Amino acid sequence: MKIQTIALLLIAPLLLVVGACAEKEEGEKTASAERMAPQVEAFSGVASRWYSDEQVARGGELFQQHCASCHKQDASGSPDWKKLNEEGKLPPPPLNGSAHTWHHPLPLLRQVIRNGGIPMGGSMPAFKDQLAADEIDDILAWVQTHWSDKIYATWNQLNQRASKSR
Ligand code: HEC
Repeated sequence: MKIQTIALLLIAPLLLVVGACAEKEEGEKTASAERMAPQVEAFSGVASRWYSDEQVARGGELFQQHCASCHKQDASGSPDWKKLNEEGKLPPPPLNGSAHTWHHPLPLLRQVIRNGGIPMGGSMPAFKDQLAADEIDDILAWVQTHWSDKIYATWNQLNQRASKSR
């Protein structure tokens, strides 16, 4: 588990565009959610989690401090997260496994928090000047405690594929 974590820290952040998901039409999103569904069934095994209880405890506090104002205290986000608001921006999505945060490998999730969504036309602020890399990982650990074993196992496969393809 340790070695995996170190390997993930060493690989350069993926050059994927976060906004790509956000900019898709709602119809496309639904279609992609449906495409993901069979995989959730397929990887129903339990994968061991990459984080410790200490990370989760620290991450929970940091989340309430920095993220809960938009993503809600329980990471459930906005119920209307798929609908553009009057400024043409997306509301804060749920991070609790009910939206598509779990479609992103760890390096990309770190990058979203570091750089925010503004460079991609979104509205999430960047946190790279406020949060250290290990604090961002603590927050992601806490966020992932909200994911069911099924969702986590599916994410874990995707995350491993993403780190192998580098
Ligand atoms: C000012 C409101 C706001 C704050 C504060 C905020 N976010 Fe966001 N977040 C958003 C919005 C809005 C989006 C959708 C993309 C965009 O518009 O930038 C988003 C997107 C995300 C995503 C991508 C989700 C996905 O499914 O692709 C993650 C992960 C995320 N936020 C985590 C965090 C974390 C962790 C924090 C605290 C360190 C945080 N956010 C603080 C508003 C916010």
